Amino acid sequence: MKKPQIIEKEQNKGVENLGCHVEKQDIQRSIRPIYKTSDFALYNNDCLELMAQFPDNYVDMIFADPPYLLSNNGFTCQNGQMVSVNKGKWDKSKGFDDDLKFHETWIKECKRILKPEGTIWVSGTYHSIYQCGFLLQKLNFHLSVPVPASV
Ligand SMILES: C[S@@+](CC[C@H](N)C(=O)[O-])C[C@H]1O[C@@H](n2cnc3c(N)ncnc32)[C@H](O)[C@@H]1O
Repeated sequence: MKKPQIIEKEQNKGVENLGCHVEKQDIQRSIRPIYKTSDFALYNNDCLELMAQFPDNYVDMIFADPPYLLSNNGFTCQNGQMVSVNKGKWDKSKGFDDDLKFHETWIKECKRILKPEGTIWVSGTYHSIYQCGFLLQKLNFHLSVPVPASV
């Protein structure tokens, strides 16, 4: 993931102008989109830092493709060859409880920024989707019929 682009406080445009502020270690920083138009902004940042900048009930739709947490030295078959499933440190499982906490943290934040009539789409594999589904129910999301996915 690319490092967030940091700009000085004086240059902050604020969330309404599609920039946003990050308060971390007593340093006021601002996250800028990597691309923006008058009604669209694309960020490449830690999603938790970014979502923290948005007010409650702010967005209509979230599409999330969170880490599947399957990079624990397993193998899969690709074009007839055994290949490692490891994708990177960010995809390593830390065990059931920590993985559940990880998913709960980002899903709670999504719930906070989603409008009550908003929609969330979550993409996953068997390694992650049941925990996410459990948490969506725990956090009182209304579930609709899932979209079948191909692998
Ligand atoms: C299952 S992959 C999704 C891949 C994506 N759909 C694509 O086609 O590139 C999960 C992605 O989440 C990113 N990621 C992990 N932790 C993140 C975080 N805290 N904030 C934002 N992205 C994160 C990883 O770098 C990885 O690219």
